[in-house]
Amino acid sequence: MAREKADLSAKLLTWYDAHRRDLPWRAKPNELADPYRVWLSEIMLQQTNVTTVKPYFAAFLKRWPHVKALAAAPREEVMQAWAGLGYYARARNLHACAIHVAEKLDGIFPTTRDGLLELPGIGPYTAGAIAAIAYDERQAAVDGNVERVITRAFALETPLPDVKLQVREITQSLVPAKRAGDFAQAMMDLGSGICTPKNPDCRLCPWELSCQAKRLGIAESLPRRKQKPKVPHRHGIAWWIERADGAVLLRRRSDKGLLGGMLEMPSSGWADASENLFGGSDTGLRVTHTFTHFHLELAIWNAAPPKKLPGPDYHWAKRESLANEALPSVMRKAVAAALGADVLKKKKP
Ligand code: ADE
Repeated sequence: MAREKADLSAKLLTWYDAHRRDLPWRAKPNELADPYRVWLSEIMLQQTNVTTVKPYFAAFLKRWPHVKALAAAPREEVMQAWAGLGYYARARNLHACAIHVAEKLDGIFPTTRDGLLELPGIGPYTAGAIAAIAYDERQAAVDGNVERVITRAFALETPLPDVKLQVREITQSLVPAKRAGDFAQAMMDLGSGICTPKNPDCRLCPWELSCQAKRLGIAESLPRRKQKPKVPHRHGIAWWIERADGAVLLRRRSDKGLLGGMLEMPSSGWADASENLFGGSDTGLRVTHTFTHFHLELAIWNAAPPKKLPGPDYHWAKRESLANEALPSVMRKAVAAALGADVLKKKKP
């Protein structure tokens, strides 16, 4: 078995040498990886795809070329630059992590998975990925792509999430003593380019001949998943409140909880839309957004501007500069709907 595993790893690395993707955060063959780039890309790539991340990665790197520069940036600027990538706790943790590395570790990232796990925003997957890619530590980085490749290669029919531990153990046992980083990235490339959820391109796969799921004709049905409960639907009201001079009322959400620290059109609690904060009238406009755990429908209401700011978390923003505010995607949709246009498309970073 050990020989077969070594054979799989070797085949994968040979394939990678010929077909690796050229990605902006990826070191070229024989180049040393830059831990800052590896870390930044891994945080950005959590829950997001390569195409979405590329322009953000380029913009961050241009503006903050090393971790000390990012640490020195005001948090608000980092949140603004992140707006549109989603999962805003990641942006806050990214900044907290940069500050930690810059101030406590003199700008040098820990070089092991265990050391990386101590940092804000770095969980087991990301720690494994960075340790392998930046430092060639023998670590597996198992994400959804890798789960698909491994459950197929070994025909594991136990559904997710129960199969996760087994996938992790198998992947770890495949990581070669040398080139752990290339192995991790090769698995990512195989999963995203060839061993795809639908119509995997098995003829191009370096593991085709030994793939158990291919042999059994069940590749496309793996990984199996336990039935998920349906996501609940929630409702809320978001108020478009504009002064005669064109200033628009915005509120900063509490640091804790969903979209923490991001700006919004003032809105009712989403669990209970009955909280009528500003009165006014329903415009009839509706915006929907699906978060990981629920589906949200926001009704856009108009209301008269209050004479003074309702609280310290409120401010008036210029209508023309709304596109540059740290508005999360759901609020970009809401503002765009209120303005009746897609002026709120964030300028590409
Ligand atoms: N997904 C997560 N990390 C990645 C990486 N480094 N390259 C490509 N896709 C990824």
